[in-house]
Amino acid sequence: MNIRLATEADLPGILDIHNDAIRRLDAIWTEAEETLEDRRAWLQDRENNGFAVFVAEKDGEILGHGSYGTYRSRSGYNKTVEHSIYLREDAQGQGIGTALMEAIIADAKAKGFHLLVAVIDSKNTGSIVFHERFGFVNMGTLPQAGHKFGRWLDQVNMYLILNDDPAP
Ligand SMILES: CC(C)(COP(=O)(O)OP(=O)(O)OC[C@H]1O[C@@H](n2cnc3c(N)ncnc32)[C@H](O)[C@@H]1OP(=O)(O)O)[C@@H](O)C(=O)NCCC(=O)NCCS
Repeated sequence: MNIRLATEADLPGILDIHNDAIRRLDAIWTEAEETLEDRRAWLQDRENNGFAVFVAEKDGEILGHGSYGTYRSRSGYNKTVEHSIYLREDAQGQGIGTALMEAIIADAKAKGFHLLVAVIDSKNTGSIVFHERFGFVNMGTLPQAGHKFGRWLDQVNMYLILNDDPAP
């Protein structure tokens, strides 16, 4: 298994994982599946803004992806980034999410980002425990912050401070 930066050739594999999560999970709070063009624009946006998209690949297959990007757009937030990691169902629980998270943290640190934020559905205890393992702090739950499949969803926010840099 290889963790590396994503290329355009990886987009079909990334799209499959993304749309599967939209269809099945209380994650990615939309019921609208994406097209390859949508994912291409997303990858270009992340690359053009100096962020990163990583994939986990084995024997030419994309097992998962992890990336980070804009948290909020105003300039005062430009040292904060929000990340996400999604694995194919059959690739979970084998350390691949850990490898992607390590790549995200290392890349964001190297580029001087200060705060990494995770936004998680409150019922996704697997993801919450996963983030705790990296030292992410659970800062609480925003109730009924979103909806999907006709139900309100509660949002857990977790954060990890990446360095002790002074404010710019
Ligand atoms: C959440 C996710 C990224 C974790 O990646 P993973 O490769 O499955 O996790 P790892 O194998 O690296 O696990 C590392 C640790 O995280 C914790 N963990 C991971 N999944 C867990 C689960 N379902 N329940 C409880 N703890 C879990 C465990 O402490 C685990 O350590 P252990 O194996 O020694 O017990 C992955 O399962 C996934 O893509 N899930 C579906 C999509 C999703 O929920 N993404 C996150 C949206 S916020």
